[in-house]
Amino acid sequence: MEPKFDEFLDSSSISKNVSFLQSDGLLHQPSQVLPAYEHLSESRTAMEELTPGEWNSLNLYRARYNQEQQARQALDMLAASKDSPSYGFRVNNYRHCLQCATMLYQDGADEETIVCGLFHDLGFIVCPDNHGEFSATLLANYISEKNLWMLRHHALFLDHHASGNLLLDTNARESYRGHPYFEYTADWVARYDQTAIQTQHETAPLEFFEPMVYRVFTRLSKGVKLHY
Ligand SMILES: [Fe+2]
Ligand SMILES: [Fe+2]
Repeated sequence: MEPKFDEFLDSSSISKNVSFLQSDGLLHQPSQVLPAYEHLSESRTAMEELTPGEWNSLNLYRARYNQEQQARQALDMLAASKDSPSYGFRVNNYRHCLQCATMLYQDGADEETIVCGLFHDLGFIVCPDNHGEFSATLLANYISEKNLWMLRHHALFLDHHASGNLLLDTNARESYRGHPYFEYTADWVARYDQTAIQTQHETAPLEFFEPMVYRVFTRLSKGVKLHY
């Protein structure tokens, strides 16, 4: 547990003497991705001040920026949990994700499905009650309907394998029986999710999956905005 955990929860401890960040220089740092890009003038203080020309160039460069950075930053999010503690399992969530992806790779799964395995629990700690939605939303525009449905529902299907956990309804998945992706999701969870808790299972490093992640994230986006 973080040594300051209790302090953080005590709102009366909020300091009245904040040391506000000064300009950190990043505004003027040349971008590796966009060498020709000129950053906006510092005189802009709100987005509504930007001209159509400025928006045009932002739109143009955002697309190029995302090409390189979307996969990179998703990988970095996962990598940030590399050394995080487990709450009880012998592997932490990071290792669980890698192990799941490794199992899929070893079984000859396609790249997209391996990437789904890699990120299926990205939100498990920071967004526990909706972590299926978290990963589904992350990948929605780059994966099949089948994998999207699987990501969304995998947590509920996993409950089927936790009969010893009396807090869960192991039959919750039955409300989806007959759905076209029911069997796929049930099989995926049974083979690659509930089993990815092993200390001795060989597990590929994150770097191994990086090219696959880049290839999935640079697919043409479906452009779907899920919750609008
Ligand atoms: Fe999960
Ligand atoms: Fe999982």
